[in-house]
Amino acid sequence: MTTSALRLGINIDHVATVRNARGGLLPDPVRAAKLSEKAGADGITAHLREDRRHILDTDIERLSSEIPLPLNFEMAATPEMVEIAVRTRPHAACIVPEKREERTTEGGLDARGQYNHLQPIVARLRDAGARVSLFIEPDEAQLEAAMRLGAPVVELHTGRYCDLVNDSETRQAAHELNRLRDAARLGSAMGLEIHAGHGIAFDTVTRIAEIPEIVELNIGHFLVGEAIFIGLEGAIREMRRLMDEARAGAR
Ligand code: PXP
Repeated sequence: MTTSALRLGINIDHVATVRNARGGLLPDPVRAAKLSEKAGADGITAHLREDRRHILDTDIERLSSEIPLPLNFEMAATPEMVEIAVRTRPHAACIVPEKREERTTEGGLDARGQYNHLQPIVARLRDAGARVSLFIEPDEAQLEAAMRLGAPVVELHTGRYCDLVNDSETRQAAHELNRLRDAARLGSAMGLEIHAGHGIAFDTVTRIAEIPEIVELNIGHFLVGEAIFIGLEGAIREMRRLMDEARAGAR
């Protein structure tokens, strides 16, 4: 297949995490979004959690009115979040599983098991003009369910692969990478647009970016952490460079 361009969405949630640790207004996630654009990001991703632990409703309002880049609104499949998405009309809505006690999104959405719950939500978001994506594990049954639900996009959960690389579990990491490759190929053949995200860092981005069917990566926590050392703009530029290099090598 011909390899298409790879977009970079910057998840700014953890700028808001640092702000909320103190209360008040700083650091401002909207400023981070503006800087992300300058550094070469193609989109901004923000997760409005039910418990508002990082991004707040006002952040979503400001992101949609002040940032020219497409906004990818990450949301749980709840009536409250659907109402906010319909009102805000983001470019994209990515449905993620959400458990109150988790530290970050653990595992993908069970699109197959929750089919009846998700179907009207996907339809409503699509009717509101959002490009709907489902955050799923790289698994055939989940891809098929996403297709049947009418979601045009899936985002493959890369968290397990990245954790295995961090733990130097080389064989298991290779197995997980193959699952991502297979799912990307299969999903793309089904007609789904393939994105990927979660836990991606400088040392894991290359293998993921080499998967030709993937057209968008969403990356946040690592970049916000790296910003402490080299600045957000420098961290994003380096990520962009590694993505472009991987893509050029994959051609
Ligand atoms: N994509 C999705 C669907 C997510 O839920 C998250 C985490 O909020 C990310 C991407 C970004 O993950 P990370 O912050 O680990 O880079």
